[in-house]
Amino acid sequence: MAITTLPLAEARISERVATAVRDGLASSPKRLPPWLFYDEAGSRLFEQITELPEYYLTRTERAILTSDAGAMIARAAGGTRLRITELGAGSADKTRLLLAAAVRRQGPVIYEPVDVSATALADAQERLEREIPDVLVAPQVMDYTDGLELEQPAPDERRLVLYIGSSIGNFEPEESARLLRGVRAALRPGDALLLGVDLVKSADLLLAAYDDAEGVTAAFNGNLLVRLNREFGADFDPTAFAHRAVWNATASRMEIYLMSCGPQTVQLSALDMTVEFRRNECIHTENSYKYQPGQAESMLVDAGFTPNATWNDRRGWFAVCLGRVE
Ligand code: TRP
Repeated sequence: MAITTLPLAEARISERVATAVRDGLASSPKRLPPWLFYDEAGSRLFEQITELPEYYLTRTERAILTSDAGAMIARAAGGTRLRITELGAGSADKTRLLLAAAVRRQGPVIYEPVDVSATALADAQERLEREIPDVLVAPQVMDYTDGLELEQPAPDERRLVLYIGSSIGNFEPEESARLLRGVRAALRPGDALLLGVDLVKSADLLLAAYDDAEGVTAAFNGNLLVRLNREFGADFDPTAFAHRAVWNATASRMEIYLMSCGPQTVQLSALDMTVEFRRNECIHTENSYKYQPGQAESMLVDAGFTPNATWNDRRGWFAVCLGRVE
C-alpha cells in the first residue's frame, strides 16, 4: 500500500517542532518535549536502550506478549476480524508478536501504524511486510495526541488499537487522560485498546533503567542538543551538559534532565534566539510515569473503556491491559 505522506502534514509537524523548542527554552524551568528525541539518531539510540541490561521495560513487556499475544488477540477479536492500529510506528518484535497472532487467527491483517515520522513509518512498513507477508501496512502520518482520524473499518471488522511500550507514561496525567479519550472517540462498540504501562518498583531499578552504566541513555538524552544544532543552527556543546535521572516518588515518575555543567550562552540562529544557562540549570526533557497495579484499568474506565483483562509478567513489573468499547 502507498505511503500517505502529505506535504501539508510534514509542514505542520516542522512548525510544531519549532514552536515547542522556542516555547520550551524560553520557559522557566526550561523544558523540551520528549517526542523530540526521536530523530534518526535518537531512534537508533532508543533501539539500543531497549537492549540494555538495565532497561527492563522492553524485554518485560515482550515476555508478556510472547506468552499472551494469542489470548490478547482472541479477546479483542471476539468472533470477528481485527484491523490493528498502533499509536507510534511500532518497535520491531513486540508489534510483530501481536500481528503474527492475528495472522494465525484470521489470515491477512491490515495494520495501521500512526506516527508523526514518515521515515519511522516507512521503516516499519518495509520490515513488517517482509517479515509477515500477510500483514498489509497502511501508514498514517498523524499526531495522535491531537486525536485520531481513521477510516471506518468494514462493518464486520473490529479495530484494536495498540498503545504499548508505556509511552502513555510520557504524558502528564491530564494529557494522558485526554489522549485516551481521543482514542475512545475514534472507536465504535466492539473495538478495543491494548495499553501497556510500567509499574512502580524500587528506586534502584528505576534509576538504573534511566541511567545505564554504558552511557547509552546519556547519549540519547544529549542527542537532543545535536538535533537542535542541526535543525535550528544552534551552537550547543553537548559535552557541557550532563545527563540526570531522578525518581520523584511523590509524583510517581522518573524525571530526565540535561544539566548545564557551567554558566553558558547558546544561540539558535534559525529561531533568532539566545538562551542563557546558569551552572546546574536543567532542561527537563522527559517524565516517565510509573503506575500502581489497577491504575491503568482506572485510566481506561475514565476514558470510557471497560477493562476486559490485564496481563503481567511474573515479577509484576509491567502491565498490559485490554479495554473494550461496550
Ligand atoms: N519513553 C521511554 C521511557 O519512558 C523512553 C526512554 C527510555 C527515555 N530511556 C529514556 C527517555 C531516557 C528519556 C531519557 O522509558
